[in-house]
Amino acid sequence: MSTNPDTAVASFLTGSISNLADHEALARHTLSKDVFAYIQGGAGDENTLRRNTDAWQSQLLHPRVLHVQSAPVLTTQLLGHALSHPIMLAPTAYHSLVHPDGELATALAASALQTGMVLSAQSSQPMEAVARHFLGGDTPPAAPLWFQLHWLGEKALMRDLAQRARQAGYGALMLTVDAPVQGVRDRERRAGFSHPAHIRPVNLPPAALPAAASGGDPDAIGKVLARAPTWEDVAWLAQISELPVLLKGITHEDDARLAVSSGAAGLVVSNHGGRVLDTMPATAQSLPGVIRAVEGRCPVIVDGGIRRGTDVIKALAMGASAVMIGRPVLHGLTNGGAQGVAHVIRLLLDEFSIAMALCGCRCIGDIQPKLLTTSR
Ligand code: FNR
Repeated sequence: MSTNPDTAVASFLTGSISNLADHEALARHTLSKDVFAYIQGGAGDENTLRRNTDAWQSQLLHPRVLHVQSAPVLTTQLLGHALSHPIMLAPTAYHSLVHPDGELATALAASALQTGMVLSAQSSQPMEAVARHFLGGDTPPAAPLWFQLHWLGEKALMRDLAQRARQAGYGALMLTVDAPVQGVRDRERRAGFSHPAHIRPVNLPPAALPAAASGGDPDAIGKVLARAPTWEDVAWLAQISELPVLLKGITHEDDARLAVSSGAAGLVVSNHGGRVLDTMPATAQSLPGVIRAVEGRCPVIVDGGIRRGTDVIKALAMGASAVMIGRPVLHGLTNGGAQGVAHVIRLLLDEFSIAMALCGCRCIGDIQPKLLTTSR
């Protein structure tokens, strides 16, 4: 890894990094090929990965004019909490791969910009330390800190991790359900990526590490799937957890209904950033069906390919309560640690605010489906 944060921070200050794509380009230049392939790659031929960004771009906005006479108000509500704005950080594994401060730097940036953060179960920093960095300021941020987990195969392990997250100050659990086995990630394999031994999922007991269904064992998939969760497990977790449980990775309308009836407090429409099953639809295409199926019974968050403020306004116009960004956070972290992440969030927030003003929206409630035109 050849990070040069000083040069990177200087390029924020001079304005040569002016959007999230610029951050991506700088990170591509800075990181070693294999680490960049791990972060950036998708599954298979990367159809879904490409579609995620393209689908937001191809939606068209149909704005109203002469409606806004003051700065748009970005505050909103999620699971009963006040939020400064509806942009959150998606859970992504191993931030220490791209910056020595890892998730601690990400948490500082998120806290400073009042941005909700979901810590990955595969965080490379202890969850308690991350929580102190997020919540530890003089005034706690008007933004949630949540913990993502996947099914660990044993209820006792799940119960322990859920309790530990609550004690550390996390406000909700996000159970990821779309990756019972790892996808076929060709780009990563071609680049020869392997996890450095010193970067570990420090919050997980060794018995609970997510297994890869490969390695020459013909029954590897069977062994991994034997530990995969069922809808009964989801209902059990929702019942025993003292924190609300959101499900991440819902794209099918029937699953959305099942999730709500299993006790999910919220859903995340996600295809894992195109990293699991290639040729799934873009999340912008899956979102409307899930919103319809849920019928307002719980909030729906969406991630995948959100790179512009206009993408955020489109997601909200379709009925999402909030959006999450994944890779851009890792790009910002690569480029300048906490300052880099803060810069990524600031850029997206400013774009979102401008998009609201230009669409005639004074507040989040003004962002309605009629903002999206059906003509192409
Ligand atoms: C992820 N994602 C992910 N999701 C999850 O639930 N737990 C995890 O540990 C990870 N780890 C992870 C690592 C990396 C490198 C990437 C790129 C993604 C998926 C993530 O939460 C989110 O769904 C996508 O990243 C959203 O798409 P974009 O914004 O990256 O296009």
